[in-house]
Amino acid sequence: PPRVTYSNTGTDFSPVHDRLDQLFPALEAGLGRETVFPLVEGHPVTGTVTTTIRSPIDRDMTLAEVAEASAVTVARAVAVARAAQPAWAAMPWPERAAIIRRAGDILADMKWRMGPLLVLEVGKSRLEAMGEAEEAADLARYYAAEMERNLGYERQLPRAKPEESCGSLLRPYGVFGVIAPFNFPVALSVNMISAALVAGNAVVYKPGQINALTGALLVQAFLKAGVPAGVLAFLPGGAATGEALVADKGLDGIAFTGSHAVGMEIHRRFAAGRFARPVIVEMGGKNPAYVTATADLDRAAEGVARSGFGLQGQKCSALSKVYVAAAIYDDFLDRLTARTATLTLGDPRRREVFMGPVIDDRAAARQAAAVDEARRAGRVIMGGERLGGGIYDRGCYLAPVIVDRLGPDHRLNSDELFLPFISVQPFDDLAAAIADGNRVAYGLTAGCYAGRQAEIDLFLDRAEAGALYVNRASGATTGAWPGHQPFCGWKGSGGAGGKGGLGPWYLPQFMREQSRTVML
Ligand code: NAD
Ligand code: ALA
Repeated sequence: PPRVTYSNTGTDFSPVHDRLDQLFPALEAGLGRETVFPLVEGHPVTGTVTTTIRSPIDRDMTLAEVAEASAVTVARAVAVARAAQPAWAAMPWPERAAIIRRAGDILADMKWRMGPLLVLEVGKSRLEAMGEAEEAADLARYYAAEMERNLGYERQLPRAKPEESCGSLLRPYGVFGVIAPFNFPVALSVNMISAALVAGNAVVYKPGQINALTGALLVQAFLKAGVPAGVLAFLPGGAATGEALVADKGLDGIAFTGSHAVGMEIHRRFAAGRFARPVIVEMGGKNPAYVTATADLDRAAEGVARSGFGLQGQKCSALSKVYVAAAIYDDFLDRLTARTATLTLGDPRRREVFMGPVIDDRAAARQAAAVDEARRAGRVIMGGERLGGGIYDRGCYLAPVIVDRLGPDHRLNSDELFLPFISVQPFDDLAAAIADGNRVAYGLTAGCYAGRQAEIDLFLDRAEAGALYVNRASGATTGAWPGHQPFCGWKGSGGAGGKGGLGPWYLPQFMREQSRTVML
């Protein structure tokens, strides 16, 4: 049965909070002394200049020093991975699947360290962080199970001639570069790494620049589980490390999750080889929800507020536009603003906090500029203030924003903002509203609140997005879980392969087909 996730409403999480109350002080006391090094063949690569990672919760809190991987280290990691990959691919697939499942079990055991670290590193709320730590464990186990369910992707096929056996099998490409975003650094890294590995590829992994601590920890889970040291390299660093990785001719494929601009640039650069190599990209979103006159408006307000403002709007799946039937427009807005006003904003180490800080000053500046533009073009209904005093001066704590009357062609209605910012607009005709929601360059998630089946069917038929949600209180457009909600971007949100992580079609993208005909 579907598991109870941390985003479900109405669950008593006090035992989780009690444990976290005890864990945070000890965790914080031990931070700031460690230097995180690149790991190649299981050995730290020392000797490079280090940068400091600070918590977005409080910039006075140093999390770690990081030795960012240089171009030389990248080249060595890829060469080592190339040398180690054939033996990993030759291992019988049930053994590889068992190792990746074990990595999932180890990640599950690590959740009480990983979850609190995610709070400090990304500024997630406690429950979002614990949910991500558990999702990561489930992802590794899910791909192990997928390998088994598909019998290693080996098929006997009907014979063309009686004296010849025929078969098809999917085989790994070789070495994958894996590049991950800052906002779901553990789950989405484990998503790409475990799929690539279980398929028989080696992986050279670069986490988000600020995610060296959680990245190093998750790599430990795979190595402890039995992934050979040469098969998984860890390269902390930022754009320069990522660029060196993408430029390395020794890669056979790339799996990337991050922004549209960077993903498309990687597409272009990676195409400049002797032949086409796979680029599996999951990118940003501009995700709409539709609320019709027959909807349960309290449920819609709950789902919209959670999806728009959870993780401060910094989810690829975050809701950013709401189309509301004109007949219930004012009523819905009242409920949405009332619900939003009750969301707790503050230090996410505290149990009652739903929204923490945005990631950095640049995000705060983008929010201030967006509020300014909205004020000039339309109406700012609520939000935009910034908390101040004490630690709130040492992080960017922004009140969630709701605006309307922007006009359909305003850039705030088409650009991914990646901020706690929702734009609302009335509609008379649901089909026309869905067509307008589809006009953006993205197509990641979309939600609908409606009481009539015909409206729901219209939404399911017409919405151009890889993940659709109907009438969910726990989130209008967010909250995908492995094996239940495949997470797949259409248009500018995803790649040409069009098969998302968390679902049954993802793994084959890390393999190429070989047909085998053998004269008996
Ligand atoms: P980003 O694109 O800035 O960075 C992503 C990764 O790419 C990071 O590891 C970064 O260091 C690296 N990078 C940056 N420039 C690079 C370059 N020139 N060459 C190679 N690597 C480079 O994204 P972010 O800010 O970390 O994450 C937020 C974005 O990710 C949002 O757009 C969000 O919607 C998207 N995202 C998408 C999904 C999904 O599944 N579709 C999930 C999470 C986040
Ligand atoms: N799993 C995350 C969500 O669906 C990305 O919101």
